[in-house]
Amino acid sequence: MSTETQKMSEPFILCDGLVKIYQIADLEVVALQGLNLSVRSGELMAIVGVSGSGKSTLMNILGGLDRPTAGQVRVGEFNLLKMSERAINRYRREQVGFVWQQSARNLVPYLNAVENVELPMTLAGFAGREKRDRAEDLLERVGLGERMKHHMRELSGGEQQRVAIAVSLANKPALLLADEPTGEVDTATALTIYATLRTLNEEFGLTTIIVSHDPTIARHVDRVVAIRDGMLASETRRQVRTVERFDEDALNSGGDGIVEEHEEHFEELVVLDSAGRLQIPKDVLQQFSIHGRALLDITDEGILIRPADNEDVEAPELVAQEQAAASRIQQAAAIGGFFSRFRRKKDG
Ligand SMILES: Nc1ncnc2c1ncn2[C@@H]1O[C@H](COP(=O)(O)OP(=O)(O)O)[C@@H](O)[C@H]1O
Ligand SMILES: [Mg+2]
Repeated sequence: MSTETQKMSEPFILCDGLVKIYQIADLEVVALQGLNLSVRSGELMAIVGVSGSGKSTLMNILGGLDRPTAGQVRVGEFNLLKMSERAINRYRREQVGFVWQQSARNLVPYLNAVENVELPMTLAGFAGREKRDRAEDLLERVGLGERMKHHMRELSGGEQQRVAIAVSLANKPALLLADEPTGEVDTATALTIYATLRTLNEEFGLTTIIVSHDPTIARHVDRVVAIRDGMLASETRRQVRTVERFDEDALNSGGDGIVEEHEEHFEELVVLDSAGRLQIPKDVLQQFSIHGRALLDITDEGILIRPADNEDVEAPELVAQEQAAASRIQQAAAIGGFFSRFRRKKDG
């Protein structure tokens, strides 16, 4: 393999054992606990997961708004763990576009649409015709060619969100991060936002990550990964299959009556980390009364995970671990903690 092709096949984003610990008073909240993720250049993907699972934390790290505690994170040529404060500020301005749930976070209410899109370019030192041309071009691409001179209050929620997308792209980022961009809009509007993100992804080859609560998101992206407890848990891929179907009209109009149709289907895969660990959903474990320890049966078909024969007799070390976790949860509740994962700092 030549160096060129090697470069091409390298992922654009690579997170390896990414850890983020937030400190609140003397407690540490583990928001990401060894997350692995790789994203191809030009990919349009989504991240799903319950509230508090670490989605925004990951987006903030990828966007250079926050630093990881440990692990590796690389975006393009940038090693985000090792960069100086200055370099990371520059990375954030030049390489990343952000779209937030509240479009207002990207928009200035007293400027019209085109002025809003020009603003980041002005701040980056661009002037004149080039700036206006690019702003107009972006607004046309997000479907707002007719609304360029409208102020924010004259635009609907969905239109404002599309202005926000245009603003995020003003400085030609390589990576677009959208954190719940459809969280505050209705279904029809959400569809226009997904369509806009898809178009931009295709036209600019823009690597795009959308965080979403929307269960239908898999229809609108190439791949969905689910985060659970700060780790990658599963991955859903959209596949388009060609199926042949008999059709009477096609037969009557002279052919052999066979028509080809494209059928979408979704495949959910569980993710294994480099140490061979995988996450099994809690409800599935409960269903089979699997806790603490399990038996692995190696079969011709694959690996079967079964409850251990003596499941009532818990291993003492596991009982101790669970008790310790329960008492930490009580301590956190006592000081008003609302988070799901934390640990005590070593020495207060
Ligand atoms: N700035 C912060 N300080 C302390 N804890 C935080 C901070 N940001 C997020 N957390 C905690 O980290 C965990 C993951 O949060 P977040 O990434 O916002 O989840 P999501 O976006 O999936 O809802 C949560 O337990 C949350 O309370
Ligand atoms: Mg969030």
